[in-house]
Amino acid sequence: MFHAPIVPRVRKRSRPAEAGVARHEAVKFEDVRLYLVERKMGSSRRSFLTQLARTKGFIVDDILRLEKSMPFCCSLTEQGCSTPTPVARVSQYACQRRTTTENNNKILTDAFEVLAESYELNQLEGPCLAFRRAASVLKSLPWAVQCLGATQGLPCLGEHTKALIEEILQYGHSFEVEKILSDERYQTLKLFTSVFGVGPKTAEKWYRRGLRSFSDILAEPSIQLNRMQQSGFLHYGDISRAVSKAEARALGNIIDEAVHAITPDGILALTGGFRRGKEFGHDVDFIVTTPEQGKEETLLPNIIDRLKEQGILLYSDYQTSTFDISKLPSHKFEAMDHFAKCFLILRLEGSLVDRGLNSTEGDSRGWRAVRVDLVSPPMERYAYALLGWTGSRQFERDLRRFARLEQHMLLDNHALYDKTKKEFLAATTERDIFAHLGLEYIEPWQRNA
Ligand code: UTP
Ligand code: MG
Repeated sequence: MFHAPIVPRVRKRSRPAEAGVARHEAVKFEDVRLYLVERKMGSSRRSFLTQLARTKGFIVDDILRLEKSMPFCCSLTEQGCSTPTPVARVSQYACQRRTTTENNNKILTDAFEVLAESYELNQLEGPCLAFRRAASVLKSLPWAVQCLGATQGLPCLGEHTKALIEEILQYGHSFEVEKILSDERYQTLKLFTSVFGVGPKTAEKWYRRGLRSFSDILAEPSIQLNRMQQSGFLHYGDISRAVSKAEARALGNIIDEAVHAITPDGILALTGGFRRGKEFGHDVDFIVTTPEQGKEETLLPNIIDRLKEQGILLYSDYQTSTFDISKLPSHKFEAMDHFAKCFLILRLEGSLVDRGLNSTEGDSRGWRAVRVDLVSPPMERYAYALLGWTGSRQFERDLRRFARLEQHMLLDNHALYDKTKKEFLAATTERDIFAHLGLEYIEPWQRNA
């Protein structure tokens, strides 16, 4: 076969002599298009190989055709890949990009996320966000970055990220990332924060006291774990293991049954990562509500009671609603919204899951513990809550940033406020909110920013 490199996404102007090569051979491989790069080969060898390939039934292009969706292309020089030509603009806002679960730049974005996490654990918000933004831009690309030149013109990529890209493209890994991954402090903080109920501040406190492992923590008499952390340790094996789509579906059936047993006109919607089409998640997020105003207030306590009666409630942290429309709009963003919500750990029987549980080998219990979040907004706030809880976190951040900086509006999980008109904008669907913001509608499965 051909040893000449077949390089997609690289344009080279063909020579007139080659472009004129006749092609009347029968095509056998219609799905394959070859383009032979002349570099180091010479034009006569290229002509020979082109003829040979065509007689064997291959289609050989004289001019490289570019993929339609590709926003950048590179022209080939003697040094390889360079001189990118921007052919479409990539927005700095995740809410103006379409990002599916398919990530063509995982090797780069994984590295960026390690840096972002490391900064987050050191409570350095600025650089953490910078790396999250850079990762998000690369996740949206329908092509893999193969040379640094291809990133020219992309937003949110600074000097540090570019140096990292160059290093990874050259060596296949980054020394800086590897140093972080092998760092004792980073490893310990990651371990501690992987426990349900343990945030960066608690993890840091434990680390400073010289604790390095779960057994150190559990053996330390002066540490008083709160109820959430106790459950976190108790069910650690289960809830640190990913939840599958089939498990999420089974939990949806359980919650749906509970909602409808309580109120026939109850509404249940799947949100979070599973609504965005993810195959696995760390929990399952649902919105529950009812068209009867005020009735949503009693919905969650009733659902919790029912789950308890069924013997499947392993942990519950219920937070009543603090939603007060007269306190809107909120000028500062709060991590938590004001709707009634509960953070649960449920016992899920394997028999209820299509093709069984996502369990570790040799685990014969036949059930697993799963984290479930329920949020219960009043019906007239439903569209905002749905948009806010569907995520991703980065998509939400950029929706709010876009609203504030580009439209002079304030968006959160409760409402959209127009600061120019000094009025709230009503919405019954997510599409209404995108329209108010002057944004093209982005489907949930395109919000994996
Ligand atoms: P998750 O943390 O569950 O993330 O929050 P996820 O995207 O579903 O991913 P995995 O698979 O579980 O890890 C879901 C969304 O809910 C929002 C978050 O910002 C996120 O976008 N959220 C969560 C709120 O808006 N308010 C909250 O109080 C909690
Ligand atoms: Mg989730």
